[in-house]
Amino acid sequence: MNQPKIAVIGSINMDLVTRAKRFPKMGETLMGVDFHHYMGGKGANQAVAAARLGADVRMIGAVGDDEFGYEMLANLSRSGVSTECVKTLAGVQSGMANIIVADGDNAIVVVGGANLGLQAEDIWAFEAQIAEVDVVLAQLEIPLSCIMAAAEIAQKHGKPFILNPAPAQKLPQELLEKVTLLTPNAYELAISLDLPLDLSIEEQIAQAPCPILMTVGSQGAVYNDEEGYLHRVPSFRVMQVDSTGAGDTFNAAFAVFWKTKGMAAAVRKACAAAALSVTKSGAQGGMPFAGELEEFLAQQPE
Ligand code: RIB
Repeated sequence: MNQPKIAVIGSINMDLVTRAKRFPKMGETLMGVDFHHYMGGKGANQAVAAARLGADVRMIGAVGDDEFGYEMLANLSRSGVSTECVKTLAGVQSGMANIIVADGDNAIVVVGGANLGLQAEDIWAFEAQIAEVDVVLAQLEIPLSCIMAAAEIAQKHGKPFILNPAPAQKLPQELLEKVTLLTPNAYELAISLDLPLDLSIEEQIAQAPCPILMTVGSQGAVYNDEEGYLHRVPSFRVMQVDSTGAGDTFNAAFAVFWKTKGMAAAVRKACAAAALSVTKSGAQGGMPFAGELEEFLAQQPE
């Protein structure tokens, strides 16, 4: 399995990004620095990042029949992602995200649009395409019924199902039982499992009904093994320009390298890919290609 096959089931958004010197206060009107539109959506971001790292990726999702929809489909194809399983919904707006970037950080409001028009039957219609892949990767910007369908199909065909529970929402036990690996940050894990927000990482992970790979921002990642031991993988120091899409790059890189390199090496590569992703503007702007990732890692101490 040199070139892993990955199905990414999720959202496709146009990111409308305003850069400002700081975040506005409630009720304040602030002059921004500049405005750009970039390709985004957690699903599309993960698909593009995985393709750049050498995976054979098929995207399962939906766009509207508007200009953004066609632009986003073209971007996926240009990035080497198969769009055969992306539906174009007539008379519906494509998904979009209003993003403010200040001090390298971001605040995002997503309007689901066509992403929310996707239905469980649509996912079942692509069962054959999902059954062919090595890894199924999903997030939570499409209806939960679609995620449930994806998890069921993955389980039926014995495929690992990675769920990145973002944006955070409480998850049904029935879904968690089908997850091979959940990849939240600390906040998302607490919301997913309906836990208090003030628990330590150890306490949170101990209560999870499925294996966890948790991102801890600039500190890297933490995961538990079959014996319940926690492993911490540090991140890499870079100059942060825009953190949008860092989590998506992490998930994609992990999915690409997990089966061939093993857990520890895949998490290290995922941390490195995520670090590189924040060095340029736009969710997909800094996502590394395979060669760039290897070059970066070669310069780092083990
Ligand atoms: O994870 C980053 C993404 O979240 C952005 O691209 C935006 O579209 C939102 O979905």
